[in-house]
Amino acid sequence: MAVDLAERWFIGDVEIPSRLVLAPMAGVSVQAFRRQGRRFGAGLVCSEMVSVAGIQHRNERTLGYLRVGADEHPLAIQIFGSEPAAMAEAARMVVAAGADIVDMNFGCPVRKVTKTGAGASLLDDPDHAARIVDAVASAVDVPVTVKMRRGTENGSRACLAVGPMLVRAGAAALTLHPRSAKQMYTGTADHSLTAELVSLVDVPVIASGDVTSRARARAILATTGAAAVMVGRAAQGNPWALAEIMGAVEEPSREEVVAELLLFMRETVRELGEQRATSFLKKFYGWYLGRGRFPRPFKQAIVVLPTLAEVETRLLAATPGAAELLERLEADLPDVEEILLDSMPISIYGGG
Ligand SMILES: Cc1cc2nc3c(=O)[nH]c(=O)nc-3n(C[C@H](O)[C@H](O)[C@H](O)COP(=O)(O)O)c2cc1C
Repeated sequence: MAVDLAERWFIGDVEIPSRLVLAPMAGVSVQAFRRQGRRFGAGLVCSEMVSVAGIQHRNERTLGYLRVGADEHPLAIQIFGSEPAAMAEAARMVVAAGADIVDMNFGCPVRKVTKTGAGASLLDDPDHAARIVDAVASAVDVPVTVKMRRGTENGSRACLAVGPMLVRAGAAALTLHPRSAKQMYTGTADHSLTAELVSLVDVPVIASGDVTSRARARAILATTGAAAVMVGRAAQGNPWALAEIMGAVEEPSREEVVAELLLFMRETVRELGEQRATSFLKKFYGWYLGRGRFPRPFKQAIVVLPTLAEVETRLLAATPGAAELLERLEADLPDVEEILLDSMPISIYGGG
């Protein structure tokens, strides 16, 4: 049966307007990326993983991840950590920052994270994982969700044992990226496990991994029974992948690509400041200008330009029509109203 990607659905009482979710990606999912994702059809967007330890220590950069724009909702903020009480405290803080959903990362395969007992390593300790979910679900009155891998080792089916335990502990939805932690991003996501997980739990399951096109999204929804698909790498520098999944047929013109890139650059400068944005944006040039859209030497010349002003000038010189498109995009964009963390009551920072 064909699934309508434009159909709304719910996580707890949070209404999600489409069955397309933008993946959390560290070093990618800044506010500009999330707002763009919403404009191109994602029904739910998610912050990158935010460190609970960083929140506890009021790390300035960590708190910067908790800036929420009014037009991002519904938004999940993802936290990672290993201590139930600390996770619960961090959850209260991200809800105060504006999260509609608190997502917990039980999937990160990176050693720096797993060696602290966080991320995918929690799949090896299901009782502790369930205690975390229980603590977080009890601490906040928004839905709490978990994103996980299939398990830590290749061929693992741990997610099928852990997933139902997490639901019993209070998870209102699960996202499954059915690769093992050991696999990192190699091989393919085995969505037969997603189908098995769907049959075992009575909450929505989001399918993550290798969703790159409308055909693939529909096939995964139809064969797994998942409530939604999540798109990560395919949307990097390519919001048109989201539009295609939602049913758009036209490829973007070069002018559209440059206008979106310039808007993304300006938004990122507002968010991160000029200096951090300058290095952060480098990887995005290849993502936007690649995919056969611009010749390789042009792309290479852009990446080595030292300032954002020079990048902007060079891009506009190559596609003069982009300036007008950019102006229109900026005019249509609502102002960002952010909750300022500085103005939060001090009590949300401390205590159990
Ligand atoms: C650069 C990068 C950063 C990621 N960071 C996170 C993260 O912070 N939290 C998380 O749960 N998953 C993270 N992931 C995993 C993605 O959310 C997603 O599950 C995975 O990339 C598979 O989906 P895809 O094939 O659509 O990319 C990251 C993936 C990439 C490529």
